[in-house]
Amino acid sequence: MTPDYLSGALAPVPDEIDAHDLPVAGELPEELTGRYFRNGPNPRPGEDPGHWFAGHGMLHGVRLRDGRAEWYRNRWVRTKAFTEDAPFVGETGVDLAAVTANTHVIRHSGRILALVESGLPYEVTPELDTVGPVDFGGRLTTAMTAHPKQDPLTGELHFFGYGFFPPYLTYHRLSATGELVESREIEVPGPTMTHDFAVTEHHLVWLDLPLVFRLERGGMPYAWEDDYGARIGVTPRAGGPTRWFEVDPCYVFHVGNAWEDAHGRIVLNAARYTRERFAPLWGRIGGEQDPAVPAAASGAAVLHRWTLDPATGVAKEEPLDDRGVEFPTFNEGLLGRESRYLYTVADDAVVKYDQRDGGSQVRKTGGDTGEAVFVPAAGATGEDEGWLLSVVTAGDSSRLLVLDARDLSDVASVRLPRRVPAGFHGSWLEEQ
Ligand SMILES: [Fe+2]
Repeated sequence: MTPDYLSGALAPVPDEIDAHDLPVAGELPEELTGRYFRNGPNPRPGEDPGHWFAGHGMLHGVRLRDGRAEWYRNRWVRTKAFTEDAPFVGETGVDLAAVTANTHVIRHSGRILALVESGLPYEVTPELDTVGPVDFGGRLTTAMTAHPKQDPLTGELHFFGYGFFPPYLTYHRLSATGELVESREIEVPGPTMTHDFAVTEHHLVWLDLPLVFRLERGGMPYAWEDDYGARIGVTPRAGGPTRWFEVDPCYVFHVGNAWEDAHGRIVLNAARYTRERFAPLWGRIGGEQDPAVPAAASGAAVLHRWTLDPATGVAKEEPLDDRGVEFPTFNEGLLGRESRYLYTVADDAVVKYDQRDGGSQVRKTGGDTGEAVFVPAAGATGEDEGWLLSVVTAGDSSRLLVLDARDLSDVASVRLPRRVPAGFHGSWLEEQ
């Protein structure tokens, strides 16, 4: 029986194609001139990597210019694992270039990087050809998260790497010009899967949660261990010890925005899983075939808020909704500062939250809905003035949906030449 991660919306495509002059319904804003790139796992034909997260990274790109959709193309990232079948753990230890680069694609200081949290970033060209692994002149000696944070004021890129052996967690900072200028160990009790973190004006915020690395498990070697506990750490960006807040056991792949409120408390919103809701998801994407468990991959986490008070050491926890959502996005011009709107996706919808009044809007899309990337309009004065870009797939056809972020109304829809497998994260790369 074909595992879930190789079928339906997750089924890989067999090859790389190019298509030109894509049909557009509605009107693409001329201002949307640039590239939308999205990353996700795509095993080669006949390959079964054993877990959704383990497939080779494939980038899908759509080139928009002056109201037209000029091209679509898809390319595997030519990592050492892809071209040489190089092992991640070999006789000389871990090879940080022998990875899948399958999770995110960003641009920083002029370089486009395909990212996966187990290894080094891979640079690719604006045409999606692979340049090679990047270690910032030999300075990066750990893996790099797929969820770095760019400070909108300084242009610096904050990120971290986690590993199986000490140091388990290391914070890194790139200058606006792409130089690795700081690396600092963050002490944690053990090796855990740390997928994301948050950055506020003065602090780094860590999620040290009980998905613990256990080599003996093989495959995707992580297991939920209640004994590990769950804690959120706050480290001054300028340096100094981390203050840890104990929280109820949970798992988080993705945070929304985080900020410091008027009382100096840290507010962190994230898509949060309980153990009960995490287990079936983890089983499914790892190939367990339990017909009693629904296939929905994005319906299990709910939007949750922690408010961390350094004065008392207490973390307040509160669910903000009971709907299943994932892939939170926001206007990254406000990264680290209080923001009002958070965009998420449910299985077949985009859900926009107003974090000030607690309201939400739902826009059904009629298909499997990928992460909705927010693109600010030029000269915008309102936080939600701009567009949301999302790949929506119904049956065998995919489109790039462009919504008005203010009311989630249709702006345009670009028909893609064939189905794009459901994947992870993408970026809008505005023309430079
Ligand atoms: Fe992610």
